[in-house]
Amino acid sequence: MKVTFLGLGAIGTPMAVHLSEDPFELTVWNRTGEKAREFAEEHGVYAEESPAGAVSEADIVITCLPSSREVESMLDGIVSRIPRGALMIDCTSGDPATSRRIAARLAEKGVGFVDAPVSGGVKGAVAGTLTVMCGGSEKDVERARPVLEAFGKKIVRCGEIGAGDAVKAMNQALLAIHIWSAGEALATLAKLGVDAEVALDVINGSSGRSNSSENLFPERVIGRKYPRTFKIALLDKDVGIASGIVAETGTPAPFIDLAAKLFSEAHQLLGEEADHVEAVRVIEDKAGVRIS
Ligand SMILES: NC(=O)c1ccc[n+]([C@@H]2O[C@H](COP(=O)([O-])OP(=O)(O)OC[C@H]3O[C@@H](n4cnc5c(N)ncnc54)[C@H](OP(=O)(O)O)[C@@H]3O)[C@@H](O)[C@H]2O)c1
Repeated sequence: MKVTFLGLGAIGTPMAVHLSEDPFELTVWNRTGEKAREFAEEHGVYAEESPAGAVSEADIVITCLPSSREVESMLDGIVSRIPRGALMIDCTSGDPATSRRIAARLAEKGVGFVDAPVSGGVKGAVAGTLTVMCGGSEKDVERARPVLEAFGKKIVRCGEIGAGDAVKAMNQALLAIHIWSAGEALATLAKLGVDAEVALDVINGSSGRSNSSENLFPERVIGRKYPRTFKIALLDKDVGIASGIVAETGTPAPFIDLAAKLFSEAHQLLGEEADHVEAVRVIEDKAGVRIS
């Protein structure tokens, strides 16, 4: 099966590594061509100089770009080159409305579409244990499944096109709320003189724990190591999508709206390259205290 992967970023690269093995025949493209050439040499696959060239013989095209905006822009150059009958799987954490527009344009050319954002981080991508949330017809999701199984463990059809994006956006809103609220709790306890490691140990044995408190805070906030695995710019984008969805659906959701505002401010303060958990630095600055 000929698979084309467009977008060798922090998470796209380890996902593509799994597709460099049999039974897939992989072609990669990346905006910074050097990365694609190096990847191709290391993993014995093809690298193309343009997205149009990369998709021209594909059965399956996978995109993993920052947002749906970049995917939609890329479509102009590739839509006439993707073979009729192919399937595009968008692993970008995208927005449902843009995914529906993309799917409609592809459908005119006889190309299927599944929105398939992932969760589990770079570690999960390396291990091949990502959760993949899919939106699309049952037939297209089943067609995508063997490809998604190369890097995913839990692959779930959430509904029609855009449903995967919507579930992912809500997951990201919860992630943002967990990070921010754990940061506030630990900053407050630091002011009371409670050691952060002790506090976190107690919380992680109690009902206030979360993936953030268990897996992100020990290394990043307590250890003050902030590996740049997932940019705060991307989490800001994700929570913005979630906030847009709650507005569209008329759902009162003050937590999600506030998370969008706080992460937008933190993104502006910390810049494009900061990791998402570095938002805790902003809480520390505002509180005038160091957690650890
Ligand atoms: N990192 C994570 O832990 C994680 C987890 C779950 C979901 N995601 C989602 O996965 C997607 C990719 O994230 P990432 O962390 O891999 O991002 P990233 O490291 O910033 O990589 C972004 C990729 O998109 C390419 N790109 C950027 N702008 C482009 C444009 N205008 N046209 C074409 N290509 C463009 C980049 O090319 P260059 O190499 O040329 O910059 C790079 O290949 C995002 O939607 C993110 O929200 C990420």
